[in-house]
Amino acid sequence: PRVLVLNGPNLGRLGRRQPEIYGTTTHAELAVLCLTWGHELGLAVEVRQTNHEGDLLDWLNAAADEQVAVVLNAGAWTHYSLALHDACAQLEAPLVEVHLSDPKARPEVFRHTSYVEPFAAATFAGHGVEGYRMALEFVASR
Ligand code: DQA
Repeated sequence: PRVLVLNGPNLGRLGRRQPEIYGTTTHAELAVLCLTWGHELGLAVEVRQTNHEGDLLDWLNAAADEQVAVVLNAGAWTHYSLALHDACAQLEAPLVEVHLSDPKARPEVFRHTSYVEPFAAATFAGHGVEGYRMALEFVASR
């Protein structure tokens, strides 16, 4: 089965971006890890990252059409994008929400809201890149 791992804004700078919060693994390294974990779990994983909200909406709309499972770290869009909310609402295959940090445990109140959560079969937050492995294991178990 296919699984899309979709990463939103600013996650392309993973490894260099506030490593004390998001860790030192780069996005390229994360992509390799996800492909490796997927291979072990029998999943055909594709990893993408964008800073452009429309790209993410197009990918989610295609995932809805193709009934593909999605592992989603939507970055800051998680907290305010109603278009993202509406795109997630259309998914029929499992959607798993991932965050490297635990947004609900962070001081900024705006991080405590998630527009993805209502549609997520599971959320893994605060486990760093391991959260992606947990998400892929969850998808494989479905
Ligand atoms: C994040 C948490 C969000 O609050 C933040 O805007 C990000 C990354 C995470 O992975 O911890 O960009 O989604």
